[in-house]
Amino acid sequence: MNIGLIGTGIIGSAVVTGFCESGSPVSVCVSPRTREKAEKLRDTYPDKVRIGVDNQQVVDESEWIFLAVLPQQAMDVLGGLRFTPEKKLISLVPGLDLEETVRRVGPLAVCVDVVPLPFAARRIGPVVLCPPHPEVRELLSLLGTVVEAETPEQMSVLRTTTALMSPYYMLLAKVVAWCREKGLGEEQARTYLTSYWGALGQMAAVFPGPLEELAMEMTPGGLNWQAFNQLEDTGALQEWKSALETIWERVRSM
Ligand SMILES: NC(=O)c1ccc[n+]([C@@H]2O[C@H](COP(=O)([O-])OP(=O)(O)OC[C@H]3O[C@@H](n4cnc5c(N)ncnc54)[C@H](OP(=O)(O)O)[C@@H]3O)[C@@H](O)[C@H]2O)c1
Repeated sequence: MNIGLIGTGIIGSAVVTGFCESGSPVSVCVSPRTREKAEKLRDTYPDKVRIGVDNQQVVDESEWIFLAVLPQQAMDVLGGLRFTPEKKLISLVPGLDLEETVRRVGPLAVCVDVVPLPFAARRIGPVVLCPPHPEVRELLSLLGTVVEAETPEQMSVLRTTTALMSPYYMLLAKVVAWCREKGLGEEQARTYLTSYWGALGQMAAVFPGPLEELAMEMTPGGLNWQAFNQLEDTGALQEWKSALETIWERVRSM
């Protein structure tokens, strides 16, 4: 598999790391900007990763080209490159218009929109793909669980939910900090909470009924009942939905 990366930043590096860790035979050419990240990838995987002299070399030497620059940079970067019709372009850039891209660079064998997240480096978690495409799905399955969005609108909804990573980690940090205030050790609290919330996620993934039913599986008047009602009554749970609405508007305007 010949993979190219244009935009060797946070997410591009995570994707390349995931492919290199997958055990599949990969050969990756990364773009030279953000030199220290490019060198780190090459030094970690010397048999798999090389640094291209420029973006055009990345395109020329790759079957699959991952584009991971910032949205405001994307069209300029693409406009300066020559593609041939057998190239397969995977965009990680939110809001990049795929039809406009093809008009700009000419026909491509594949042109899709994808949302990986930083844990793709560890080959866990979801990767969203739009539109569905069997060959791309197979490739991305090396990085995690592929979820296919049928339409750009569905893609926007899933992209919106990616904004909950920081709130989730901050909630975890606050609960761990609270445990520490009450006398627990950091490692003890963190091991407990990550195992506990990881198990909740696994249960939810296989629960056959509505998730509200799972949430309501609690003893009336018990501890979960009390915590749920306090958070519901103070509007804390509703705030998560409110944040999603705001982010969704932003994602749709990209
Ligand atoms: N971070 C995430 O979790 C995540 C997840 C999914 C999608 N995305 C999307 O992926 C894209 C990259 O995000 P990021 O967080 O990885 O940002 P980032 O760390 O800033 O990476 C952007 C990279 O693009 C490079 N670049 C800029 N102009 C270039 C050019 N002309 N040629 C080659 N490389 C160029 C930058 O190099 P310089 O530093 O030299 O400018 C930098 O290495 C964004 O569109 C973002 O929305 C991010």
